[in-house]
Amino acid sequence: MQKKRDNFSSKFGVIAAAAGSAIGLGNIWKFPYIAGENGGGAFLIIYLVFIILIGVPVMMSEFIIGRKAAQNVFGAFRSLSKSGFWKIIGVMGVLAAFFILSFYGTVAGWTIEYLYLAVKNSFAGKDAAQIEEMFTAFSTSTYKPVIFQILFMAITALIVIRGIKKGIEKYTKILMPMLIVIILYLDITALSLKGGMEGLKFLFQPDFSKVTPKCVIDALGHSFFTLSLGMGVLMTYASYFKNDTNLTKTSISVAAADTIIALLAGIAIFPAVFAFNTEPAAGPGLVFITLPNIFEQIPGGFLFSILFFLLLGVAALTSSISILEVVVAYLSEEKQISRTKATIIATSLITVTGVLCTLSLGPLSSFGIFGLNIFDLLDFIASNILLPLGGMLISIFVGWKLKRHIITDELSNYGTIRLTSIKIFIFLVRYLAPISILIVFLHGVGIIKL
Ligand code: PFF
Repeated sequence: MQKKRDNFSSKFGVIAAAAGSAIGLGNIWKFPYIAGENGGGAFLIIYLVFIILIGVPVMMSEFIIGRKAAQNVFGAFRSLSKSGFWKIIGVMGVLAAFFILSFYGTVAGWTIEYLYLAVKNSFAGKDAAQIEEMFTAFSTSTYKPVIFQILFMAITALIVIRGIKKGIEKYTKILMPMLIVIILYLDITALSLKGGMEGLKFLFQPDFSKVTPKCVIDALGHSFFTLSLGMGVLMTYASYFKNDTNLTKTSISVAAADTIIALLAGIAIFPAVFAFNTEPAAGPGLVFITLPNIFEQIPGGFLFSILFFLLLGVAALTSSISILEVVVAYLSEEKQISRTKATIIATSLITVTGVLCTLSLGPLSSFGIFGLNIFDLLDFIASNILLPLGGMLISIFVGWKLKRHIITDELSNYGTIRLTSIKIFIFLVRYLAPISILIVFLHGVGIIKL
């Protein structure tokens, strides 16, 4: 028997939830640090091109499949195609969800620790070197980051158990706009720092001599990661969309909001990196090392540091619930397990791997594969391999397999919206997206040389 499925109750709720999934640590923690590692401006341009030409069409594809099928990822492909092959997207998606949430929980745990430090006013009176030392000592210690990670995972699980309307939608709607206001304030302060302009140059002035195959594949992987694409998250959310949601507009709004937040985060961080003479390629600690320096300088810094880490934690939460939802929807609908039980099983398993990620930055740091510790390895496999491949298959499915009338029905809301750019969309999902993903991929792993 088919259970009645939950729905989003308002249009704003739909956008807020999809944007809530997209906007998260990827924008504020990961974007600045991989842009820093890949030389800034040139990386930014490649990343923007991928967002527009690949990200948006793949997002529209996920929306089309999800809303049409109104099921979890596995059920969706089963109901839209006779071939069992497409199940692979679901398998890769669940695996990617598992990997991503493992290291995501580590960093989200850091935000809770930093919230606690902010409340204790622990950044006060410290110079840049001491703040950096604080991060290193904390992130490499054994118990503390693990405890905060477990706490974060427990909160994620509690929200997911409550379901869509009461959980996910309610929290995203209020908190995301607040985050934007705080980041804007940080931007203004960062730009007024002495030497800050150097940071803006770093972020916006492209130096194409810095473009390497790694830079291109990082940009592709990050465009999927930041938009929550390639693993069925937005497909699962779209399965709760109503029939009057405009799929094209929603995709563009979500991608635009996501990109703007990443840029605003970059504008807050790089001027501070240059003003305080810290390292733009500092890696995963970048935000946690840089921003406390700004809080030290600004009027109301104590209060803003508390609010910032609180909202960063919330942004992480609205993303982590969307990741967990993929695994839970799969277990509860495919394996007929109750939602609560599915959530508890998934969360426990992910937390175990997650703790290994956390420890891989400290006590387990000598344990690595291909020169990467567990944390970086899971990030690499999920973001740079599973998500782009998932995205490629999703666009191939919509471009080549799905009946054309389903695409036009979904994009036009059954004839109620005029379709103007359907040909461009078809071209992007049939040719441009899959071919460019394949090329970047083969180039990135060294199979072809351009
Ligand atoms: N998009 C989220 C972020 O930028 O923080 C992370 C994420 C959520 C990745 C959901 C993948 C995903 F399916």
